Amino acid sequence: MAKSVKGKGAYSLAFVRLFSFLVKMGNNFNKLRVRFGLRRMSRNPGNVSDWEAIDRFTELIPEMKYYNRSDALYQIRLRALANGYKNLGQWLQRVSSDPEDLRELKENLTFVGSHFFRGDVWPTLKRQLENMLSVRDKEKINVWCAGCSNGKEVYSVLMLLSDLVPLDKVSLLATDYNREMLRQCEAGVYSLRTIDEIPLRYWPFTEKYNEERKTKKDFSHLFQFRFVSRLRELVQTRLVNLLMDDYPRGFDLILCRNVIKFFENDSKRKVQERLADSVNPGGIIVVSDEIEREGFPDPESLGLTRVGNSCVYIKSAQI
Ligand SMILES: C[S@@+](CC[C@H](N)C(=O)[O-])C[C@H]1O[C@@H](n2cnc3c(N)ncnc32)[C@H](O)[C@@H]1O
Repeated sequence: MAKSVKGKGAYSLAFVRLFSFLVKMGNNFNKLRVRFGLRRMSRNPGNVSDWEAIDRFTELIPEMKYYNRSDALYQIRLRALANGYKNLGQWLQRVSSDPEDLRELKENLTFVGSHFFRGDVWPTLKRQLENMLSVRDKEKINVWCAGCSNGKEVYSVLMLLSDLVPLDKVSLLATDYNREMLRQCEAGVYSLRTIDEIPLRYWPFTEKYNEERKTKKDFSHLFQFRFVSRLRELVQTRLVNLLMDDYPRGFDLILCRNVIKFFENDSKRKVQERLADSVNPGGIIVVSDEIEREGFPDPESLGLTRVGNSCVYIKSAQI
């Protein structure tokens, strides 16, 4: 299977790379347009209602107190613009009168983007998984992706695990606070241009899929791929707000990357303590990613040992 993929691989890869390049150019242009709009909105000191609206948003969304305020406000502004509102006061009015809009806004207080095999943590994680598997005799490996976004991290870790254990030994819980992200994670359908982020040897885990054509303008969705059912069926999704809800427990591996950084300091600490509680003795926690290097400030107090300078932590087997 891997050989035939390699044979066709050169042409497919060249095509996908050209396609990705063109789409990325288009996306960058769109990002510039949004940023330009944002700057104009926030640089308008005469527009008092914008500033009043910010206070009102803080009252309307009590959860904001758990988040890094400037990031949360940035997201609110971004969503206002994306919905066609240049004035925050008008956006506030719409959101306050529509519970569905309010819920959607609450679920989008952070950036939700993700990539396959994001960051350079994967070789370190693979080595630690090998170590863990060499000293254990448990039947199942329980994995939790906390703040899983659209599932790219979920499928990345499943593909990595497929190198180490039969996949029927793996059970994976993917949680997020954003329903749309969980829906995408379950569907396991992604734009073909992102397949380039997945090493070629894992491509047999994907299949062509282009039923969900979106708008004529958005070429990125004309071509899609989907993970095969063997992988999708391993994923269980659940709505879990890491700031408010009970945490599931008993995991051998927890990934909670690029999530905690959006929380304010007290919440960061509480979430870290609770994650350390949810992992089994001898288990592994991965936080943040290598680029940000934001980790546990005091891992020993939680019974964790950091692997080198990475964002991978091992829980003491004695606890
Ligand atoms: C930047 S994405 C990170 C996705 C993935 N972990 C990665 O590293 O690529 C952050 C995710 O955290 C989720 N999130 C934000 N606040 C949350 C909360 N309070 N509880 C659970 N998930 C949350 C967002 O919905 C989003 O999907």
